[in-house]
Amino acid sequence: MPTLAILAAMPDEIQALLAAMTGPRRHLIGRREFHEGAIEGVDCVIAMARIGKAAAAATTVTLIREFDADAVLVAGLAGGVHAEVRVGDVVVADTLMQYDLDASPIFPPYEVPLLGMTRFGACPELSGMLRRSADRFLAQDAAGAIAAASEGRLRLDAPRTHRGLIATGDRFVKCEQTMAAVRAAAPDALCVEMEGAAVAQVCHEFERPFAVIRTISDRADTTADADFSVFLTQGAGAYASGILPGVVRD
Ligand code: ADE
Repeated sequence: MPTLAILAAMPDEIQALLAAMTGPRRHLIGRREFHEGAIEGVDCVIAMARIGKAAAAATTVTLIREFDADAVLVAGLAGGVHAEVRVGDVVVADTLMQYDLDASPIFPPYEVPLLGMTRFGACPELSGMLRRSADRFLAQDAAGAIAAASEGRLRLDAPRTHRGLIATGDRFVKCEQTMAAVRAAAPDALCVEMEGAAVAQVCHEFERPFAVIRTISDRADTTADADFSVFLTQGAGAYASGILPGVVRD
């Protein structure tokens, strides 16, 4: 039976999903936690990657080489970049790129040297499953449930699902200067995060399908760190447990 890997940077992002896993077995490899078990009867490995591209790449190799993962899903939070991508919205990647990778003039800016690629395409089938599950979750008044559960601390405005480019880099974006670098590298980026394109590159190299889903926790501006912390504790779990098991069921 195929094994589905689910990778997140921080425990809060998928703690609720761990609760849905039957027969979990915990492994510690390379100082990170992997939980092997079943979700909705499907063999899964949940990995806590920690933050950043190096952590995400190391985790992805481990998922493929140690757990024989057949496909990798990345889940977690992101900062909204596009004007219409707001806190509480969901973004499913069509493509991903590393906005902070620049080996110019030896190689073109943003291109992964010696691989000759700048953007990595996510698996259309897995991405479609993620979008459908996210749409179902949001249609059940997720915003109302989260507002109630957070006692009004998290008020979301009719959240929507988007698809498009996700920009990845080793920075928590919270100022106009970094945002300008993101926009210069990826004018069509919907959101910014710190792991997705690294997982995409490794999955490309190992020929494994992957998909990335992100919930928008902040607008990558001067209040991003405070907004991120509130979303992480008040909303992230509801999104993970509301959307990811639905993908496995599909
Ligand atoms: N993940 C969530 N918010 C983010 C931000 N503003 N920058 C980078 N990664 C993020």
